[in-house]
Amino acid sequence: MKNYKLQQGSPPPNIKLLSAQMQLQNLVFYFLLFCSGLALGLTLSFYLRDFSFNLQLNQLFDLPATAPPELSPLPLPLQMTNTNLTRVGSPPPPPHSPPLQITKNNLSRVGLKQYLKPPSAMHDMKDEELLWRASMAPRIREFPLNRTPKVAFMFLTKGPLPLAPLWELFFKGHEGLYTIYVHPNPSFNGTVPEDSVFHGRRIPSKVVRWGEFNMVEAERRLLANALLDWSNQRFVLLSESCIPLFNFSTIYNYLMGSKKAFVEAYDLPGPVGQGRYNPKMRPTIKLEQWRKGSQWFEMDRELAIEVVSDKTYFPSFGRYCVPSCYADEHYLPTFVSVRFWRRNSNRTLTWVDWSKGGPHPSRFLRTDVTIDFLKMLRHGSRCEYNGKSTNICYLFARKFTLHALDRLLRFAPKLMQFN
Ligand SMILES: *[C@@H]1O[C@H](CO)[C@@H](O)[C@H](O)[C@H]1NC(C)=O
Ligand SMILES: *[C@@H]1O[C@H](CO)[C@@H](O)[C@H](O)[C@H]1NC(C)=O
Ligand SMILES: *[C@@H]1O[C@H](CO)[C@@H](O)[C@H](O)[C@H]1NC(C)=O
Ligand SMILES: *[C@@H]1O[C@H](CO)[C@@H](O)[C@H](O)[C@H]1NC(C)=O
Ligand SMILES: *[C@@H]1O[C@H](CO)[C@@H](O)[C@H](O)[C@H]1NC(C)=O
Repeated sequence: MKNYKLQQGSPPPNIKLLSAQMQLQNLVFYFLLFCSGLALGLTLSFYLRDFSFNLQLNQLFDLPATAPPELSPLPLPLQMTNTNLTRVGSPPPPPHSPPLQITKNNLSRVGLKQYLKPPSAMHDMKDEELLWRASMAPRIREFPLNRTPKVAFMFLTKGPLPLAPLWELFFKGHEGLYTIYVHPNPSFNGTVPEDSVFHGRRIPSKVVRWGEFNMVEAERRLLANALLDWSNQRFVLLSESCIPLFNFSTIYNYLMGSKKAFVEAYDLPGPVGQGRYNPKMRPTIKLEQWRKGSQWFEMDRELAIEVVSDKTYFPSFGRYCVPSCYADEHYLPTFVSVRFWRRNSNRTLTWVDWSKGGPHPSRFLRTDVTIDFLKMLRHGSRCEYNGKSTNICYLFARKFTLHALDRLLRFAPKLMQFN
């Protein structure tokens, strides 16, 4: 009641003083409110200006506005996951497109495995690009991942592989221990069934004329393609007329266990040996260093890298081992004998019959293929393997034709213990 009365009448003097104090407080309060409002406005306007500036920058460089700054210097392997493998050799995409991929890529997927993934057999690298890429070798020898070493079977052919059914039997059940590469002449347009081990294993090829220098180029192209798969540790060159003489396990173990390469190399006086030497090759290659041998070779990864990286002997052959020089019979035997003779067995693993004379070895037809004949090829000679004498000297043989196929299919699985 008392309070009610007080509010209705004129305020007593002590109340007047109170209201003056309240007015001052209000004034201070409004002043502070104004000041903070001003500060907020200023901050906001600066922030907005900054934001629009950033926005313009982002539009200019196509940077995703959400990307944290530490993502901008993109490591190269990130791009590999999104790159179409068939485009492996093509120039990098225009500079503004890679950053766009940042958001799409999954950082946790970039690992050594991704980096080591070989391109698909068919790619668009030029020879020069391919050889350069294949020449790379790690300086740390221990491989940091578990991997099973593979043998690369490289087929240098004119066209189809008439003995493919025999090879299919040979490879069956050994997936993961081999890779296949096929270099036919580019004009070859035959197709390979999807369930074949040869499906999708064709590599970019160029025209090959037998006995000419481009045959050596094709061999190096095959080696370079096979080197792109880091798990390939042994490299075998074969032709469409070659057959295996043992089962996969025996051949695999023989190759993996060998301390030496199998590049046949011998010095042959006379017109088809030393007679093919061109004195213009001096001083790079001297007559005493000139060697001849079979072009069908086997070698390990280290030697294969040396072959694709050779910038001395290979160009000399390209200039001076033409024409009728048969570079394919001389380049590797000479190169390997000059530089790596210690690591070479000097013999070939591919049996062939030159006994009938003439410029070409014998071809074997249907009636030639008998069990005794195959037994003779498998165990009929003696040679050295890792310093010990053995009667397994040839793992492959040529030249067999389509006519020999059904007999081979009949005898081989039992005699050679396929599967
Ligand atoms: C890869 O490239 C080839 C040819 O350039 C094209 O036909 C194919 O569709 C591409 N694949 C992908 C997944 O981009
Ligand atoms: C990224 O990779 C991890 C592991 O491989 C997976 O669990 C995750 O779902 C991936 N994320 C995207 C966005 O793809
Ligand atoms: C393959 O090439 C030959 C000529 O070399 C041609 O006659 C044939 O029609 C071609 N086949 C296909 C499927 O293109
Ligand atoms: C291979 O041949 C070279 C000469 O070309 C010779 O020096 C070397 O001792 C031979 N190696 C073997 C294992 O026979
Ligand atoms: C392969 O052949 C050898 C004899 O050369 C035999 O001992 C081995 O059991 C065969 N391996 C398989 C997987 O059949």
